[in-house]
Amino acid sequence: MDNPIRTAQYHARMAERRRALRERLHGLLPADAHLVWELGCGHGHFLTAYAEAHPDQLCVGIDIVGDRIDRANRKRDRAHLANLHFLLAEGRLFLEELPAGARFAEVFILFPDPWPKLRHHKHRIVQPDFLAAVAQRAEPSARLCFRTDFAPYFEDAHATIDAHPDWRVVDEPWPFEQETVFQSRAPSYRSLVARPHPFSHKMRTAKSAGG
Ligand SMILES: C[S@@+](CC[C@H](N)C(=O)[O-])C[C@H]1O[C@@H](n2cnc3c(N)ncnc32)[C@H](O)[C@@H]1O
Repeated sequence: MDNPIRTAQYHARMAERRRALRERLHGLLPADAHLVWELGCGHGHFLTAYAEAHPDQLCVGIDIVGDRIDRANRKRDRAHLANLHFLLAEGRLFLEELPAGARFAEVFILFPDPWPKLRHHKHRIVQPDFLAAVAQRAEPSARLCFRTDFAPYFEDAHATIDAHPDWRVVDEPWPFEQETVFQSRAPSYRSLVARPHPFSHKMRTAKSAGG
């Protein structure tokens, strides 16, 4: 049976984490921010290079491991990049706590944790509810870019994204190359690019315009 004190402590900790993230995001980002978002940025190799090459774009990388975010922030500081932020945050919580007007121009998910065992597949980040939440924040011209070295996850993500009402996989080149830590260790990998489904986007715009 659950210990009610520990459960209460857990909920209090989560509420505090949520509040701190909301405060941080609202202090950091313009209310109508157009973002390049990397989920699971690790040591920040990819997004630092991306932000350097795209000084006009605001980039935010998140990860749940503090040491990785510290290292990423040191890279950002060494490169003097004012258009780049690395934050300790969980992906779904980040989506929930972004300022209401913030939108994604690009989303990168590079070498996400593969969770190879069948009973752990539920922990994979690419799931229909996650894709719906990202689509709610995606500009009509946004790209969702996914790369993995674990072939079964690639097949699963491809099928899940392509079957999703908000997304379609497109035959477009990978927009920007920079080797990540996990990429450097991978013997091979596969990539996909997806765009918001135009029909679902129209529906969403019409719905929000109509109240
Ligand atoms: C396999 S590593 C890849 C890191 C980096 N993208 C690379 O290619 O070197 C996956 C990263 O995703 C982070 N991660 C896992 N689940 C996450 C979540 N729900 N939200 C944010 N980051 C997450 C992990 O902490 C880890 O740093």
